[in-house]
Amino acid sequence: MTAQLPRIVPFGDDAVAAAVAVLRVGAIVALPTETVYGLAADATHGAAVASIYGAKGRPSFNPLIVHVADLAAAERIALFDEEARGLAARWWPGPLTLVLPLRGEAGIAGLVTAGLETIAIRVPAHRAMQAVLRAFGGPLAAPSANVSNAISPTRAAHVAASLGARVPLILDDGPTSAGVESTIIGWGAAGAAILRPGPITAEDLGLPLAAGEARINAPGQLATHYAPHKPLRLHAITREAGEWLIGFGAVTGDDTLSASGDLLEAAARLFDALHRADAAPAERIAVAPVPATGIGAAINDRLRRAAHR
Ligand code: TXA
Ligand code: MG
Repeated sequence: MTAQLPRIVPFGDDAVAAAVAVLRVGAIVALPTETVYGLAADATHGAAVASIYGAKGRPSFNPLIVHVADLAAAERIALFDEEARGLAARWWPGPLTLVLPLRGEAGIAGLVTAGLETIAIRVPAHRAMQAVLRAFGGPLAAPSANVSNAISPTRAAHVAASLGARVPLILDDGPTSAGVESTIIGWGAAGAAILRPGPITAEDLGLPLAAGEARINAPGQLATHYAPHKPLRLHAITREAGEWLIGFGAVTGDDTLSASGDLLEAAARLFDALHRADAAPAERIAVAPVPATGIGAAINDRLRRAAHR
């Protein structure tokens, strides 16, 4: 732990003004979105974006998602075709990220896209992120507000524990609702593909999606990601010696993702449960099976990455 601590301010006009003041001088702010807390910087300010990478200890080849207030702002940064515009109209504001051709003239710092000709962009629904985007008046680059490869933060306290004094200001608006990072869609030669499963599911999207070989890769989708500090065993029905069991439905444990087997509740609680498991005295973590239907696809994706080491 560092001696200094970040300033944590509750959501409100003063907090939004404080966040904008920090962003204007090219510094970073942590704030909630509907998925996870993000670590935001002015996306047009190279040094500001560099301090995101610095604070996270993130490999510089891993590009960031840009957040804007509305579709009009997104269209000034990325090139939309009819299919992309239809998805945006249906799902924004909300937890959907689109990877689209970047408009070179948009002034986005090269570090944001890590040199790619495409940009990942979304319009978040959370009131705090929306208020800051509108008051700031420009695009904000924001990855999850945690040290690279650690569990994503769904509470202000998770951000403070992971980043400490590396982030000067955390805007606190309670736990996030969706709990897993946004669904990312990209387009390859074979059409649209899900690059990262998330709260908006393949079923929700109702698109013909490209699969297998045709998939384009989200460069940040390393096998190890969202990792707790302890070994994690999947599909556990019972607790073995030395394990902290995270239950689901009929599998009861030291904690549960959802006692009633509700996948939306499980997604919202997933990272919080992993943080608690990491902090528990047990040496290892086990997680009950979670169905891979709907948002369960995103939950299983994050659990597989958490288990990989
Ligand atoms: O819900 C979310 O999306 C959260 C909140 C804070 O908005 N953000 C988030 O950002 O998860 P981050 O930086 O942790 O994840 C960004 C993902 C990475 O997997 C990255 O590789 C991918 O987006 N990505 C970014 N730009 C890309 C691009 N041009 N092409 C393909 N993938 C891209
Ligand atoms: Mg992340």
